[in-house]
Amino acid sequence: MKEESIGALKTALKYSPENIPLRLQLAELLLRKGELKEAEQHCKSALKYAPGDRRAKVLLASVYYLTREYSTAIVILEEVLSEYPKSVDALLLISRALLADGSKMQAAEYYRKALDIEPGAVDDELDEHLRLPAHEGLSAFEDDDYDDDDDDYDSEDYAFIEKPDINFKDVGGLDDVKKEIDLKIIKPLKFAELYKAYGKKAGGGILLYGPPGCGKTHIARATAGEIEAKFMNITIDDVLDMWIGNSEKNLHELFEIARNNKPCVMFFDEVDALGASRSDMRQSSGRHLINQFLAELDGIEKNNEGLLILGATNAPWHLDPAFRRPGRFDRVVFVAPPDEAARVSILKLMMKGKPVGKVDYQKVAAQTEGFSGADIAALIDLVIEDKLEASFSSGMAQSISTDDILKVIKKQKPTTREWFNTAKNYALYANESGLYDDILNYLKIKKA
Ligand SMILES: Nc1ncnc2c1ncn2[C@@H]1O[C@H](COP(=O)(O)OP(=O)(O)OP(=O)(O)O)[C@@H](O)[C@H]1O
Ligand SMILES: [Mg+2]
Repeated sequence: MKEESIGALKTALKYSPENIPLRLQLAELLLRKGELKEAEQHCKSALKYAPGDRRAKVLLASVYYLTREYSTAIVILEEVLSEYPKSVDALLLISRALLADGSKMQAAEYYRKALDIEPGAVDDELDEHLRLPAHEGLSAFEDDDYDDDDDDYDSEDYAFIEKPDINFKDVGGLDDVKKEIDLKIIKPLKFAELYKAYGKKAGGGILLYGPPGCGKTHIARATAGEIEAKFMNITIDDVLDMWIGNSEKNLHELFEIARNNKPCVMFFDEVDALGASRSDMRQSSGRHLINQFLAELDGIEKNNEGLLILGATNAPWHLDPAFRRPGRFDRVVFVAPPDEAARVSILKLMMKGKPVGKVDYQKVAAQTEGFSGADIAALIDLVIEDKLEASFSSGMAQSISTDDILKVIKKQKPTTREWFNTAKNYALYANESGLYDDILNYLKIKKA
């Protein structure tokens, strides 16, 4: 799940508000992100256009389940099931809602029905509470698709471990962030003995935050490449898996795998989902997971040496402050949209290996204020589509010029501004100990 895909879906919806699958995809992403109010609105608008839509109803019920409005969720699901009695996701969800609502017997009945239809639809939490025969626990990672194009690892278990072949040179701009990562986590790894000699403890991680598409994931991957470490890209949602009760086990397993693959950069994406989970999920299970996560970070039980911890979020303000204590994500670093000089280097990086004529990068950079790295990539894609078309008709690869880029520049809108609208408020009104001063500096706003 990506913030950029949320942005893209929103944009697409502006143009085709009646596109139900699109709207529901957005609702689902928002739901997974814990943006329940917004998810609810999108489900409701979808139902306005398509009153009978099954998926919209199930999603809406999920929202109510998460906001603990169990009876509302149950009513909606009963309606769905009267029309689609074999809908396994509705069966599981209603079972969960009934269980939470104290109707254990009914919950068990629906759960049994779900398993009859789809024996693989095992849910540990339901199993545990409803005491149905135990099933083999399914690891959330066994059948997940990780967008990992590196096949070097033969062990299936490690399918989501990468060995990145990019390094800091592949990251345009972000010099401060590179420096921070170098000082805080690369140097302590390279010069571990020296650090020890001075009694300086290595450890702790960096939390990267900022608008979507500006290189948080990219620089995390490049960090691993920089020190030839392995890279684990872990989306908290994968761990959290709200519908399967074995998140803690998943999390522990991940740390174990990382420890067996040192040096390793563990990159936790969307860490704010953990913070959100605490208020949105049933308190106890959410807190369990957070505690487990913090314990793993602290390495109380085991040694974390050789593990580099990076996290990323678009919404640092949703994160539990306990995450920022020493030894955890004790550096919080702003990943800003690229300035003009950085845009020049990103443009150059992205044009590498493409048929390029004479391009005035400075001129292009000057006209792409507010663009994220991802926006620049999208812009280049547009240029290339145009060029391909032209090359088809002429039968020759045509080189890209400044004008080619300027011609399509209007088609690509900068996507970082929206984020700052929200961020600004936190920076102005919830800026404890100057945590978000970088945002104010970026916006050239004086502190209130
Ligand atoms: N500074 C940069 N240098 C080079 N490429 C960049 C840079 N920033 C972004 N990109 C390009 O844009 C793409 C999107 O960036 P990335 O996925 O790292 O953003 P992100 O900050 O993690 O966004 P999100 O918050 O949506 O997860 C990258 O795959 C990369 O190609
Ligand atoms: Mg990312």
